[in-house]
Amino acid sequence: MKTERILVTGGTGYIGSHTVVELQQAGYPVVIIDNLSNSNRDVLDGIERITGIRPDFVEGDCSDRAVVKKLFNDYPDIAGVINFAASKAVGESMEKPILYYRNNLNILLNLLDEMSTHATKGIVFSSSCTVYGEPDVNPVTEEAPIKKATSPYGNTKQISEEIITDVINAGAPFKSVLLRYFNPVGAHPSAEIGELPNGVPQNLIPFVTQTAMGIRKELSVFGDDYNTPDGSCIRDYINVVDLAKAHVIAVERMLTDKSEAKIEVFNLGTGVGLSVLELIASFERATGVKVPHKIVGRRAGDIEKVWANPARANNVLGWKAETPIDDTMRSAWAWQCRLRERGVM
Ligand code: WQD
Repeated sequence: MKTERILVTGGTGYIGSHTVVELQQAGYPVVIIDNLSNSNRDVLDGIERITGIRPDFVEGDCSDRAVVKKLFNDYPDIAGVINFAASKAVGESMEKPILYYRNNLNILLNLLDEMSTHATKGIVFSSSCTVYGEPDVNPVTEEAPIKKATSPYGNTKQISEEIITDVINAGAPFKSVLLRYFNPVGAHPSAEIGELPNGVPQNLIPFVTQTAMGIRKELSVFGDDYNTPDGSCIRDYINVVDLAKAHVIAVERMLTDKSEAKIEVFNLGTGVGLSVLELIASFERATGVKVPHKIVGRRAGDIEKVWANPARANNVLGWKAETPIDDTMRSAWAWQCRLRERGVM
């Protein structure tokens, strides 16, 4: 067991919980802080069933400065931070911009403040390909221009990257790795943890699996008149366990001072773009379960096509998204079936 503890904010959430599993399996002690606004304590049981280790858990809201101060005082061995905690629904952010700016930016500012007065070596920030907007060229490299955000959610990611850059350039005694995720999908192969959105899913895959389960009547495909081979939007769907593993590598890179640079940016994607219709076909092929769907109008704010050039993460981090999309679709379906077995939905 390593001695450097990793603080995972939002660690009972979808990507956070999968990252906690990988951190524990790499030997890191973990403390999770989460306000359970979009997750629940059962996730801790799932993590423990996978790793045999129940992570320390603090229920709290990181947008409250006093909460973060107490956390760092209670855990003086925090050597690294991975910040997942944020409000993250694109559509909701259009309706509640103040909530998104206050919550997402206060969380980050409170963490950076406390890190500056503790021996914390670095912060891994959960960023998003949203910062690129509609890219001029696909696949997208880290040098692609950052475009004006199309939502307050996406803007909080851009502003957060700028805040981290300014704080570190001002001499903060820690490093940062900014991980720009493409579209995280799937679930842990054990089916003990997975994506569990509150209410009607906004993202594609939970809607696919709930439709396949009969919870939703039909999947609406938002547009087939885009400038793509089959007319539906293209994304880079990355397996959530592959994504989680990249976080462990990023943490190790910071803690062992592998990089001269104080801030590094990586696109985390497969490098392969898949359309909505291709993803539905993958799910049906992989599981043998049909997904009733219909074409409807476009969804406001949707990007037409975006997929990653992951060469820097492949070459510098030595990380590559390995899981075939059909396996990822099977993992998402196995998780949905587990939720049904448990009577969750
Ligand atoms: C994917 C594709 C939809 C639902 C957003 C954020 C990103 C990250 C992931 C948080 C699009 C289509 C979807 C449906 C559909 N968020 N779709 N019917 O919008 O690419 O990315 O979520 O970390 O930062 O921007 O993901 O899953 O909502 O949509 O046709 O019922 O599926 O139009 O083309 P998106 P998504």
